[in-house]
Amino acid sequence: MAAMTKEEPTAPPVATREGEARSAVAEARKAGRSIAFVPTMGALHAGHTSLIEAADKGGAFVVVSIYVNPTQFGPMEDFNEYPRTLDADREASARAGADLIFAPAHDEMYPPGDQTRVRPGPLSEPMCGAFRPDHFEGVCTVVAKLFNIVHPDVAYFGQKDAQQAVVLRRMVRDLCMPIQIEVCPLVREEDGLAMSSRNAKLTAAQRKQALCLYKALCTARDRLMAGEQTIGGIIAAMRDTIMESGPAEIDYLSIVDPETLEPARKPAGLVMVAGAIRIGETRLIDNMLVETIRD
Ligand code: PAJ
Repeated sequence: MAAMTKEEPTAPPVATREGEARSAVAEARKAGRSIAFVPTMGALHAGHTSLIEAADKGGAFVVVSIYVNPTQFGPMEDFNEYPRTLDADREASARAGADLIFAPAHDEMYPPGDQTRVRPGPLSEPMCGAFRPDHFEGVCTVVAKLFNIVHPDVAYFGQKDAQQAVVLRRMVRDLCMPIQIEVCPLVREEDGLAMSSRNAKLTAAQRKQALCLYKALCTARDRLMAGEQTIGGIIAAMRDTIMESGPAEIDYLSIVDPETLEPARKPAGLVMVAGAIRIGETRLIDNMLVETIRD
C-alpha cells in the first residue's frame, strides 16, 4: 500500500470586497456556524497562527483579516515598509484552520470622502499611546469597521499588544458591540524574543541585541516575585539591562495594573511589566504578567 501523505488543507478563499465577506459570513451563519474573527496586518508568524488555532478550536467559521491599516501608523512610521506576504499568509492561515481571508482593498475600508474616526479614551494615552499619538484611534477605527463587516461572535487578540486588547475591550463595551473579546498568550521565539512581524527587519547583530527587552522583563519579574516593592529600583535595573546590550532608545518601561494600565505604586496581586524600545529603525514592544504577593 502506498504510504499515506498528510494532505495540506486547501487555502481558504480570499475576499477583497466588503460584499463578498458579508455574503460568505451570512452563508456560514445560515449553516448554523458561529463566527470567530482574527484581525491581522499579515506577515503571519506563530503568534498570529496561535490566535487562528484558538479560534478554530470552538468549531466556529473562522475569518482572518489581513489589512495593513494606514491610520494606525504615524507619518514617520513604517507603513510603506511593512511586510506584505499574502500568498504565504494564505497558506499559514489554511494550516491553522481559517475558513475565509478578508484582505480588503483600501477603498473598502476608507471609502472616498471617509472622515469618521473612533476616538478611544484615557486607556489609550499612557505607554504606547504616549509615543504613537493617533495609533489607537486608527486601531479602534479599523477594528470597528471590520467588526461591522464580519459581525463576529468572538474576536481573538494577542497579549503581545496588551494595551490594544485593553482599549478594544473597552471599545466594544462602550459602543455596545455584542462581541466577546478573547486575549491569547504571547508567543515567543525559542530564546524568549516576542514574535513580531517587525523582527524580520532586524540585522543579525540587532536580533541578538533585541533580546535585552525580554531580559529586562525577566529581571523585573524576578525582583517582583522576590517581594521587591520599590518600582523605581526595578525600573532602573530594567533600564541598565537594556543599555548594557548596546545602543537602544527606550520609549517606556512600566509596571502597571493590567486592566486599568495605571502605574502599580505598590505591587500587590497581578501586575503587568511592559516596555517599548527602538533598536535602529525598529520599534519593539513586549510585556509580561507577574503575580506578586498580595498583602
Ligand atoms: P498585527 O500586529 O498583525 O497583530 C494581529 C494580532 O496578532 C494582534 O491581536 C496581536 O496582538 C497578535 N500577535 C502579534 N504577535 C503576537 C505574539 N508574539 N503572540 C501572540 N499574539 C501576537 O495588531 C494588529 O495587527 C493591528 O493593530 C490590528 C488589530 C489588526 C488592527 O489593524
